[in-house]
Amino acid sequence: MAIITKDILSAKRVLDAGGLVAIPTETVYGLAAKGTDPTALKQIFETKGRPVNNPLILHFATLESIRPFVSEMPEAVKHLANNFWPGPLTLLLPKSKKVPEVITAGHDRVAVRIPNHPLTLELLQKLEYPLAAPSANPSGYISPTRPEHVAQQLGEKIPMILDGGPCKSGIESTILGWDKELPAVYRPGTITTEEIAAVLGTTPQTHQKSTTILAPGMSLSHYAPRTPTIATIAVLKELERHQGKKIGVITLKSGFGDQFLVEKEVILSPQGSLQEMAQKLYATMYELDAMDLDLILIEFAPGEGMGKAINDRLKRSSTHYNP
Ligand code: TXA
Ligand code: MG
Repeated sequence: MAIITKDILSAKRVLDAGGLVAIPTETVYGLAAKGTDPTALKQIFETKGRPVNNPLILHFATLESIRPFVSEMPEAVKHLANNFWPGPLTLLLPKSKKVPEVITAGHDRVAVRIPNHPLTLELLQKLEYPLAAPSANPSGYISPTRPEHVAQQLGEKIPMILDGGPCKSGIESTILGWDKELPAVYRPGTITTEEIAAVLGTTPQTHQKSTTILAPGMSLSHYAPRTPTIATIAVLKELERHQGKKIGVITLKSGFGDQFLVEKEVILSPQGSLQEMAQKLYATMYELDAMDLDLILIEFAPGEGMGKAINDRLKRSSTHYNP
């Protein structure tokens, strides 16, 4: 069973030796390995059951340390870095020869970010290499936002989890790249398109519907509980339709459980805060998925700002369901 610890030096020892450590970030926990060691990287794919054509993000402590891993550092990157790093923004940049093939799955761009978590930043500062880290869940399952959720899913397979407490923002980073010089969002996330537009002076395009190999995390059947799950705007209607089943409900700010019999109802934010919804969503999905329910109903967020990223994940979480 994985050791759960706050000790950065022990984590460094495991990583230096080519082992895996789950690390906290402000978004979700990552399953980290030495980003320059193909053998260590191979273990990430094996442990998650992740297809090898799905590329990995490299995590760094500083902008200067990214430089050797990219062949170009456009001026816009410096503006974005000044505004958002450390933070939940991942950039797709032309890679240099220093990046192992397995990181980019054969693509010519590498995904890089500086995460905003004090423990992980301190760890990265002590390492002589970046950390490759996908979310620390079995491929296709919900991303973990608490150390105990990493332990529950991968604890038997990895030696160590660095305990940074619950993740503050709770959904994965926004992925931004450039298509023929034009900025494009490949995965919506905590940092909104509007916030990026304000810094770049131009609104990025959206690749939300893309299911191409370019970002396999964007394919369907991701972020999904094992319990049949439906994301909906019409919670009451779904409750009515599924009466008699053992149902768990996750809503944003209002409850429905007094009108129908439900096994469990979680209101994520009585004030209707999307930040709070994002922060608690995955942990609540883990909790309900462990309850042996027939069905999980999740209410969509209002589709503005961060609500877009939340709803993107909710759509993908419910694709396993065939009524
Ligand atoms: O918030 C996050 O980004 C978390 C934390 C741990 O940093 N990481 C994360 O990693 O969500 P992962 O592997 O679960 O999702 C990364 C996504 C995948 O959909 C992958 O396909 C895409 O980024 N990606 C990585 N490198 C890429 C590349 N070179 N080109 C296109 N997409 C890429
Ligand atoms: Mg993931």
